[in-house]
Amino acid sequence: MTDKTFPLNNGQTIPALGLGTWQSDPGQVKTAVSYALQAGYKLVDGAYCYANEDEVGEGLAEAFAAGVKREDVFVVGKVWATYNTRVELGLDKSLKSLGLDYVDLFLVHWPLLMNPDGNDDRFPKLPNGERDIIWDYNHVDTWKQMEALLGTGKTKAIGVSNYSKKYLEELLPHATVIPAVNQIENHPSLPQQEIVDLCKENGIHIMAYSPLGSTGGPLFTAEPVIKIAEKHGVKPSTVLLSYHIPRGSTVLAKSVTPTRIEENKKLIDLDEEDIKLLNDYSDNLVKEGKVVRYVYPPFGVKFGFPDKP
Ligand SMILES: NC(=O)c1ccc[n+]([C@@H]2O[C@H](COP(=O)([O-])OP(=O)(O)OC[C@H]3O[C@@H](n4cnc5c(N)ncnc54)[C@H](OP(=O)(O)O)[C@@H]3O)[C@@H](O)[C@H]2O)c1
Repeated sequence: MTDKTFPLNNGQTIPALGLGTWQSDPGQVKTAVSYALQAGYKLVDGAYCYANEDEVGEGLAEAFAAGVKREDVFVVGKVWATYNTRVELGLDKSLKSLGLDYVDLFLVHWPLLMNPDGNDDRFPKLPNGERDIIWDYNHVDTWKQMEALLGTGKTKAIGVSNYSKKYLEELLPHATVIPAVNQIENHPSLPQQEIVDLCKENGIHIMAYSPLGSTGGPLFTAEPVIKIAEKHGVKPSTVLLSYHIPRGSTVLAKSVTPTRIEENKKLIDLDEEDIKLLNDYSDNLVKEGKVVRYVYPPFGVKFGFPDKP
């Protein structure tokens, strides 16, 4: 599956499968990135907030030294919420850490502003321990700065992440450049179909994060996932990653374990019966109000997701 791509709305293509790097610890992530790229992965998803971009950069350098070509790798970065009024500075810091002169895609990580002058570069807090948020902020202003980045050559495409339908509907009327991507949590327990459909209507590609349910893969035990895995003689992880390809989405799988990085490349074609089983499972969770969101930092901001009022 490492060679499959999807088109983006700016004429670029994006690989269908990528390596995630969130919570990939120093001491592990260099090897993971280098191993994955030499094993054929073509996309690496990173972010300033993950505080490991230096080591991701070392992994990229190692892979390039081993013969992987920069132009064959799709590198994704994200501007962190303390830099949402200083987007180019955020990108410059990431490029320096990564050892690159451009990324292929740069995303707004979350549509909020945390205090750029607060007591921490990434997670500033107030004396009472709450996150130090600047409430007088409009995410459209960040998008205008993102649009200006395209003229610098420091990123080939721009997009958003963690945008609900509500936030997209606020953004789109003001966008000169339509986001190429919306990177969201997506799996059978959180289908977010209203966002996926709106993105499709507007030519915005979905990148699915936490496809296994994030740390430890809690979705491995979901009943339809086990059933489909047994039917095809594959692991539940393979079913969960394969789910995104017929949805037309790129899927990000994080692992620092070489055997799993290898295993996660081998996606299968789910048949109609499998897709129906997974969609019925999702529909029931939505109907019963039981969808599960694994990644929701305690910002205290209402992002407009139906399951997080
Ligand atoms: N835009 C955003 O706000 C956002 C938020 C979350 C994530 N993301 C991106 O999406 C990526 C993926 O999401 P995620 O990291 O939350 O979680 P994930 O990919 O759903 O799951 C990662 C977990 O599954 C384990 N794992 C991976 N492959 C496995 C396999 N074949 N068998 C058994 N266990 C396996 C990993 O363990 P080991 O690593 O120990 O092998 C790790 O504990 C992130 O790394 C990040 O790049 C973006």
